[in-house]
Amino acid sequence: MAGDDTLVLRAPRPSDEPVARAAQLALAEDGFDFGLRPESEPWLAYLDRLQREHRGEDLPLGRVASTYLYGEVDGRIVGRASIRHTLTDTLRAEGGHIGYAVLPAERRRGYATAILRRSLAVARDLGVGRVLVTCREDNVASLTVIERCGGRPDPEWPVTRNGPGDVPTLRFWID
Ligand SMILES: CC(C)(COP(=O)(O)OP(=O)(O)OC[C@H]1O[C@@H](n2cnc3c(N)ncnc32)[C@H](O)[C@@H]1OP(=O)(O)O)[C@@H](O)C(=O)NCCC(=O)NCCS
Repeated sequence: MAGDDTLVLRAPRPSDEPVARAAQLALAEDGFDFGLRPESEPWLAYLDRLQREHRGEDLPLGRVASTYLYGEVDGRIVGRASIRHTLTDTLRAEGGHIGYAVLPAERRRGYATAILRRSLAVARDLGVGRVLVTCREDNVASLTVIERCGGRPDPEWPVTRNGPGDVPTLRFWID
């Protein structure tokens, strides 16, 4: 698949700021984000925070170590991934180990599938065994991505908690 051949996951860099801020706005229309805080945070402070989150340093209560990466294709940032190193009760119910998003203008090119595949390799390198991925029941595109990456429905489904708007959240495990 084209997305798999060309996409790389990499850490955000100082020069990414304008693209990342535009991506944050573009994804807000879907209720997602590009990992930037809503309040203004200087870009270099943001990069520093990501490194500390990756190392698991200075984490706020309830947050676990996580690795934040951008998906790049031919020099274009097309999406992002957040890879949580461990689960909390909240992440177990909703969020899982890996979250991802692709910019609206870059969709339907296999990039989300490539981002999740690459993120699974990163998670393995971080020592995560089975990977949990969650998804709202009405997110057809993401359900397809998870299925293509080998996701198997959690046998304990249905979960007790529903997502926003009472749409159930589905949970999948990837070995
Ligand atoms: C979900 C999302 C990541 C998919 O990104 P993408 O790069 O378009 O995904 P892919 O190109 O890998 O598409 C995978 C498949 O999903 C299906 N799909 C994608 N968009 C679809 C849509 N709007 N309607 C129905 N099926 C869709 C298609 O079968 C597609 O493959 P195809 O183009 O070969 O037919 C993207 O829509 C997004 O960022 N949404 C907002 C954030 C989000 O929902 N993140 C996931 C949270 S669980």
